[in-house]
Order: sequence, then C-alpha cells, then structure tokens
Amino acid sequence: MKNSLAIIIGFLIFGSLFVGWKISQDLGPAETATAPQQSEGTASSTIEFNPPSMDDVPDGPLGESIKYGYDLMMETNTLADEYVGNNLSCASCHANGGTVKDEAPMIGLTAVYPEYRPREGDVYTLEDRINGCMIRSMNGKMIPEDSKEMRAMIAYLHYMSEGVPTGAEIPWRAAKEPKQFPVPSVEDGEKVYAQSCAACHAADGGGTGSNTGPAVWGENSFNDGAGMSRLTKMAGYVQKNMPKGQGGTLTDQQAIDVASYILSHDRPEFKGHEGDWPKGGRPADIMNKEKREQVKNGTIDWEELVTIKK
Ligand code: HEC
Ligand code: HEC
Repeated sequence: MKNSLAIIIGFLIFGSLFVGWKISQDLGPAETATAPQQSEGTASSTIEFNPPSMDDVPDGPLGESIKYGYDLMMETNTLADEYVGNNLSCASCHANGGTVKDEAPMIGLTAVYPEYRPREGDVYTLEDRINGCMIRSMNGKMIPEDSKEMRAMIAYLHYMSEGVPTGAEIPWRAAKEPKQFPVPSVEDGEKVYAQSCAACHAADGGGTGSNTGPAVWGENSFNDGAGMSRLTKMAGYVQKNMPKGQGGTLTDQQAIDVASYILSHDRPEFKGHEGDWPKGGRPADIMNKEKREQVKNGTIDWEELVTIKK
C-alpha cells in the first residue's frame, strides 16, 4: 500500500516535470524570457471593443471625477453651459459618451495621445483635442486644463481606455480620410431629410434635444470649423449611424445628398480657418461660408469637393 502510493506520487512529480519541460520546449526562448514581450503584429488584432461599464466605477474621489466626466459628456450644454456656445452635448456626436462602436467612439484614447495633427500642424495632447471639439463642434470656449471639468473628462477617458496598451493601433478609430462618395444633389437631399431625419432633428434643422435629435444646422449647431462640417465626413457618419437605430440603410448617394442639403444651410462661423492646415493638405470639402454662397448662386463644383486626393 505504502509502496504503491510512493509510485503514484513519483509518477505525478515526474509527470509534472515532464509537462513543464514540454511547455517550455513548445514556447521557445522568446515567450519564456522573463520580460513580457508583444509578438509583432498582434497589438491591434487582439484589442477588442469592450468599454468598461459605468456601473463598475470605483467609489471615492477618482470615481466621483470619472462619473462627473461622463455626465459632462452627456449633458455638456447644461452642465458646462459657460463654455458651450450651442445646444449640443459631446454625446450628440459621440453617442452615449463615446461608447458606441461606429458613432465616433472615444475608447482607448489615452493610449494614442499625444499625437501629431495635420489640421493644427502641432502635437496635441488629449486635453488639446477635447478643446478642439469645444471651439468647433461645441462652438464654444476652451475648458482650462486645471479645471474640475477638464480633469473629470480626462479621468473619464482614462477609465474608458482601460486595457488598451500605449501606442496600440485602435481598430475602431475613424479612418483619417473618408471614402469616395458620388456627386450630391441638394434637391434629393431635401427629400431624404424630410422623410427620414426631420422627425428627430426638426424641419428647421434646430433639433429636438441634444440627445434625442441634436441641431444639425442653425445657431445651435456645430460651427463650420468642425469635422462634421466636412461634406464627406458627415456623409460617412450619417451612413453609419442615421436614421438613429437604422444605421447602414442609406445608399452612398442618399448619404451624400442629405449631407449636402444639411451643410448648405447657415451655421456659426469658425474664426480660425486661416490658421488650419498650416503645413498644407487642407481638404476641399470644408463647407464654409464661401461654399455656402456658391451653393446659393449655383457655382459650386461638387465634383471637386467629393474627390479624395491621393
Ligand atoms: C458635432 C459633432 C461633435 C461634437 C458635438 C463633439 N465632437 Fe468630438 N469629434 C467629432 C468628430 C467628427 C471627431 C473626429 C473623428 C473622426 O476623425 O472622424 C471628433 C473627435 C474627438 C476626439 C478625438 C478622437 C480620436 O479618435 O482621436 C475627442 C477626444 C473628442 N472628439 C472629444 C469631444 C468632447 C469631449 C466633446 C464635448 C465637449 C466633443 N468631442 C463634441 C465630432 C464631435
Ligand atoms: C430617431 C431619431 C433620429 C432620426 C430619425 C435621425 N437622427 Fe440623427 N441623431 C439622433 C440622435 C439621438 C443623435 C445623437 C447621437 C446619437 O445618439 O446617435 C443624432 C446625431 C446626428 C448627427 C450629429 C450631431 C449633429 O447635431 O449634427 C447628424 C449629422 C445627424 N444625426 C444626421 C441625421 C440625418 C441626416 C438623418 C436622416 C437620414 C438623421 N440624423 C435621422 C437622432 C435621430
């Protein structure tokens, strides 16, 4: 009895040693080295879109800040009224605080900033990038970096970057350049708008609420220095996400038609256009005042606007 127990234990010890040796053989030297190493090419392919839940935010001062940051993203025009110049919230474009995959998501951003930005010709921190949306998309003022508001937004975006390794290629981030769309018809776009958009965004474009149907033109919408004021960017966003809940149902033609109709209307003017793209590469499809005038007097060259220059 004693003997057979010794034999069994002996087998177990030998077996586990053998298995241990076998594993190290299979893995080879790279993976068994003490320092953890990323094998090449896996960084982007293995990151999954899996935003942490707001229910799991820890208690305490940091948790309070993260929650305040989330509330600021959802109700920007009421909670940060002094900085906002329209009726939008960040969530008017970054749906549900940037947690929806196709709707301008903000997951993983603390892993990619600071970053060089051709529009500004400078290296931008995440705070700078938020303020870029403040002075353009929110038609407002910059939020000071040492304010409670900015710290809360950064705390929130940091929480939403959990598990994304620094420097990773984030697969769900919007492509730098939108795709090629056909030449638009403003008249056809007007019909698409009346039929599929006006119920939430209002017939006069003024919207029904920042998170139910935000203003798409007029004084309560984003200004013409915002990314959404680029014809092909808006068409791309609309095609992926609108009508809300039926993303992907509009054809390329319908998406560019309705974007051309929306962007032909007046909206706040951005004061800093001349300073943008200081090192060249200014896109042709920025719907500024000059372009809106060209639509009115029939001289606009839509072909030039939609052509993506290689
Ligand atoms: C009118 C729409 C709109 C609103 C409102 C808006 N944004 Fe944006 N935001 C965009 C677009 C469009 C982009 C660029 C994404 C792209 O390249 O397509 C962007 C980009 C960003 C980025 C960088 C994302 C990246 O991948 O690098 C951050 C950060 C950001 N916004 C924060 C905010 C915050 C915070 C608010 C509210 C204070 C806000 N935005 C309001 C449209 C908007
Ligand atoms: C059922 C309501 C609903 C319908 C219909 C709808 N939208 Fe939206 N739209 C929203 C909501 C809500 C948002 C805010 C972002 C989000 O939650 O997805 C939004 C955001 C937008 C934005 C970005 C924010 C802004 O103010 O510019 C644009 C542009 C837009 N919609 C265009 C359209 C177009 C074009 C159509 C028609 C093809 C359309 N929407 C149909 C509800 C709707």
